[in-house]
Amino acid sequence: MSFDTLKKHLTVHGQEHLIKFWPELSENEREQLSEEINKLDLAEVNQIFRRSVEASKVIQQKADDDLKPIPDSHYESVPAMTREKVDEYEKIGFEEISDGKVGVLVLAGGQATRLGFGHPKGMYNVGLPSQKTLFQIQAERILRLQQMAAEKTGKHGKITWYIMASEHTKVPTAEFFKKHDHFGLNEEDIVYFEQGRLPCFDFDGKIFLDEKYHLSSAPDGNGGLYRALKTQGVLEDFTKRGVEHLHAHSVDNILIKVADPVLIGYCKSKNADCAAKVVQKSSPSEAVGVVCRVNGHYKVVEYSELTEEASERRNPDGRLTFSAGNICNHYFSAAFLRKICGYESKLKLHLANKKIPYVDDSGVRQKPTEPNGIKIEKFIFDVFEYAENFVCLEVARDVEFSAIKNADAVKKDCPSTAKEDLLRLHRKYIREAGGSIGDDVEVEISPLLSYGGENIKDLVENRVFTNSPFHLKSSIELPVQNGVNGKH
Ligand code: UD1
Repeated sequence: MSFDTLKKHLTVHGQEHLIKFWPELSENEREQLSEEINKLDLAEVNQIFRRSVEASKVIQQKADDDLKPIPDSHYESVPAMTREKVDEYEKIGFEEISDGKVGVLVLAGGQATRLGFGHPKGMYNVGLPSQKTLFQIQAERILRLQQMAAEKTGKHGKITWYIMASEHTKVPTAEFFKKHDHFGLNEEDIVYFEQGRLPCFDFDGKIFLDEKYHLSSAPDGNGGLYRALKTQGVLEDFTKRGVEHLHAHSVDNILIKVADPVLIGYCKSKNADCAAKVVQKSSPSEAVGVVCRVNGHYKVVEYSELTEEASERRNPDGRLTFSAGNICNHYFSAAFLRKICGYESKLKLHLANKKIPYVDDSGVRQKPTEPNGIKIEKFIFDVFEYAENFVCLEVARDVEFSAIKNADAVKKDCPSTAKEDLLRLHRKYIREAGGSIGDDVEVEISPLLSYGGENIKDLVENRVFTNSPFHLKSSIELPVQNGVNGKH
């Protein structure tokens, strides 16, 4: 595109400031800038800005006028279930795994800004006795599940691991896996794909320049999943491999039950196309989204959108009315994802005021100390309302949820709390299997040995654990090689 055409194109869409520094740029820089601009559909980009501003006004009106909890017919709770029911769902899940119909979608495109870690979050090592990273823990849970499914059904099936990364996390993630021999998984069972980005705007909808030759942009949120599934050929991959069930989850939950057969079995037996695992909110003010119904539609209402009255409302039995805490842990049928990806461009847009570095009018790069513009994101759960049969599965927080969001200084949802939550759960497994262990003893059970507390009786019964830190290994343990230590 010639300079004149570029200028005209930008002017039509009110973004001509982007070439303000053109005369100063080298040939290479000009090429980079015009390439970045040409990649954007400016009409769509401007519309995205307008739509997100409109949507934020609606949110500010607070969403609790017709707010209802999830009806009992669409809600089950694992802690309240009989052992027989859990086994029944699990059996169905194992069948689906053995038939190769289960895939995992891990959301690993976030920038880990709050954690302050310069690598993809999955590479984080919280300092467990084994020094395993989040990715290794998840890989080993997949390996163990495949083995359990084969033992239960007599059929060997593979779980396909779809890893959604972003521009900055894709290459280091793939390199990390390669360096660690894919943690024992087959390389062909791991599929990396990349989510998109959206430009960052000032409050008037002008795209920021990050450098004189480079536009400011950010990943398009975990709801960028749907566009990426479509544009990166992942939907076709589901078809090619016969994957019918997808377990989608955040990368940072150290207790994640990857490809949980109970979830898969529950959803299949209910013929659900979309589901959310939830935990009971710990208090009315806990900063998690709540899964509920708004005007008859299933939604996640973020805590900032819930009025104080609604967040504190209680049922006659004393339980919070809106207690279904969202933990970014979802089920989708492949058929539902195919449908959704057809109209993902209509999904809601969320706007956040941020401090965005930018090149000012005089050409100096500024790092603002106050929010100066907006970033726009799509959220993975905004598709719930399009489900034909949405269900919720409540799970125990101490067994399934401990997220790493912040640096240790925050003392909450951070590496040290995640490590402690995992070790506490493993102490519980040891005691349930007949072992004896004090609360201050650090024993980690390898996921290759046990997915959820099973298979350890022979190793722990009547044994007193005093050695700490200690890693209860499987006989097929891989050496842990130079994980990126999150503690350095
Ligand atoms: C998320 C949920 C929130 C829930 C909370 C529980 C969303 C939008 N919000 O909030 O309702 O109560 O978890 O911990 O799901 N990610 C990407 N690409 C992006 C942005 C994020 O892949 O562009 C990934 C992150 O790497 C992470 C996951 O999505 O694995 C969750 O994102 P994060 O920004 O951490 O969401 P929360 O604010 O924790």
